[in-house]
Amino acid sequence: MCGIIAYIGKKSALPVLLNGLHKLEYRGYDSAGIALSCGSEISAWKSVGKVADLEKKVRLLEKNSHFNNAQYGIAHTRWATHGEPSEINAHPHFSRSKKIAIVHNGIINNYLDIKEALETHKSDEFISSTDTEVLVHLIEHCYEENLLEAVQIACQRVKGTFGLCCLSLDDPDKLIVARRGSPIAIGIGDDEVIIASDPIAIVAYTKKVIYLEDDDIAVVDKSGKVEIFSLSGTLVDRDQSKIDWLPETPDKGDFEHFMLKEIFDQPEAIRNTLRGRLDYENASAYLSGLKMAPTELTQIKEIKIVACGTSLFSGLLGKYAFEEFSGLSVDVKQAADFSDYPLATKESLVLALSQSGETADTLNAIREAKQRDIPLAAIVNAEGSSLSRETMRGVYIHAGTEISVASTKAFTCQAVTLLMLALKLGRARLLNANQGKEMIEDLEKLPDLISQILENQNQIIEVAKKLSAYDNCFVIGRGYFYPVALESALKIKEVSYIHAEGYHSSELKHGPLALLTKNFPVISIANQGPHYEKMLSAIDECKARKAPVFGSITQGDKQAKSQLDSFFEIPPVSPPISALITTTALQLLAYHTARFRDCPIDQPRNLAKSVTVE
Ligand code: M6R
Repeated sequence: MCGIIAYIGKKSALPVLLNGLHKLEYRGYDSAGIALSCGSEISAWKSVGKVADLEKKVRLLEKNSHFNNAQYGIAHTRWATHGEPSEINAHPHFSRSKKIAIVHNGIINNYLDIKEALETHKSDEFISSTDTEVLVHLIEHCYEENLLEAVQIACQRVKGTFGLCCLSLDDPDKLIVARRGSPIAIGIGDDEVIIASDPIAIVAYTKKVIYLEDDDIAVVDKSGKVEIFSLSGTLVDRDQSKIDWLPETPDKGDFEHFMLKEIFDQPEAIRNTLRGRLDYENASAYLSGLKMAPTELTQIKEIKIVACGTSLFSGLLGKYAFEEFSGLSVDVKQAADFSDYPLATKESLVLALSQSGETADTLNAIREAKQRDIPLAAIVNAEGSSLSRETMRGVYIHAGTEISVASTKAFTCQAVTLLMLALKLGRARLLNANQGKEMIEDLEKLPDLISQILENQNQIIEVAKKLSAYDNCFVIGRGYFYPVALESALKIKEVSYIHAEGYHSSELKHGPLALLTKNFPVISIANQGPHYEKMLSAIDECKARKAPVFGSITQGDKQAKSQLDSFFEIPPVSPPISALITTTALQLLAYHTARFRDCPIDQPRNLAKSVTVE
């Protein structure tokens, strides 16, 4: 989603800004822009499409220009919220006099009210459809003596979220940065400061960062001095942190797409998730990042999982394990619902799941829980993300950087982490040592079992070829395979643009069967296990409506083979582990289906990697 990068210092700003924009590309965007200032003049370049297009434009126009040596500037990748992707709507946006330029992440909820007030009083003209342009007009409207005060007053008037960076010709040689709900990191270099919405764009220049907190406004000047103020103007002190991870350079290696590479990363990623966390002696798990004493663990009365998208579905898989192993009641909530209906008590544990750690709805949910003093922990992939910093305790899944918009390895690594947590909670409640030991053995087998699926894709590719000819499908499952069906349907629609819906197999007869015809296939997860017979009946129900039925079966299962039109085989293992292996097979199914349909797999239309708006 939107990304910010800004530079002020002694170097030429342009290469730093372009490099930063490239680093932010993985988040998904539809347009990009840069504004450079040389003190007496601001110039901006914008482009719809890739950063590479913007780069060509800047380099072409500015050959031999004094802007090549501009020592400060701001830049942005935009993911459209207000107004279509276009050069006019791309950031930076300018104030009415064109003296102030701004880049902004987040959403100004009351922008229409502000716009109306500004139009009434000053007949301002707005050229774009964005809330950001209204914000920069407001800042100019509030400007009396200096930019800092103007931003402070404007921020007091706006409702919504922002991470912003702006510069002004009337107040040269400085940048003003502010945050409410949208992350901003300030990288402190030698005689230079690099500001970004994601430290990934900073780490090449410095490892020293200050993360702004909500309603912080900072002034950064050319000498590298940073002063941070509260909304009311009081000087505040924020700790400097050290980025202690090495940025991975996104590299597909020999894979055609990041999605495929990340599916193949899974055996190693899961080993990293498990490393050092299996407690053989007590048949349990070590999850020290949770920072919870054994007594605290036994005091938990219920778990509220909050997450979005793929993380939500891995949370649902976790619910089955928590309930089976520990008997604890678990509620899995779309994170936006938690902030609206935060039913939880001080005896609940709110567990926030996120790959990016920057999903706005998930962050809002944990802020709500914090405010109400409800115990809280996070399961996150991105180190140093807002979620990990704001929860202060939790577990990193160590899946490695995920670039493809369609999340794959984060799902399996989150689910593995949840299984370890369920084991730990279970050992304090329902699970005996033998059951705990079996779970540990199963988890240890998982990476090799996934490798087996990756090495034998032919059956999956055959099914993908057939599926790619249709425009609709259902994916059905029960028990642990129900969240897998939901996740698989999400993957199929994201990357292959086939309309796919995930259902509990028992739901079919309550409505969805009405859609089945010979042109509407069903993907059934018919692995052997406690619900096997019922899945076979569901397959019969679909076949009776002439729907083609494809799906997963347990290796060598003749009965299931005879009922399915096309299938791929999964090794026989316990249901939670089988659910994870089947997920990988279904990720491959979505991937190959998309390939047969010639879809832009790594960056599907209209989607962003990290959803930083509500
Ligand atoms: O970074 P998060 O795990 O919080 O992201 C949540 C969803 O936005 C994300 O899983 C999304 O649904 C993916 N595109 C799914 O493939």
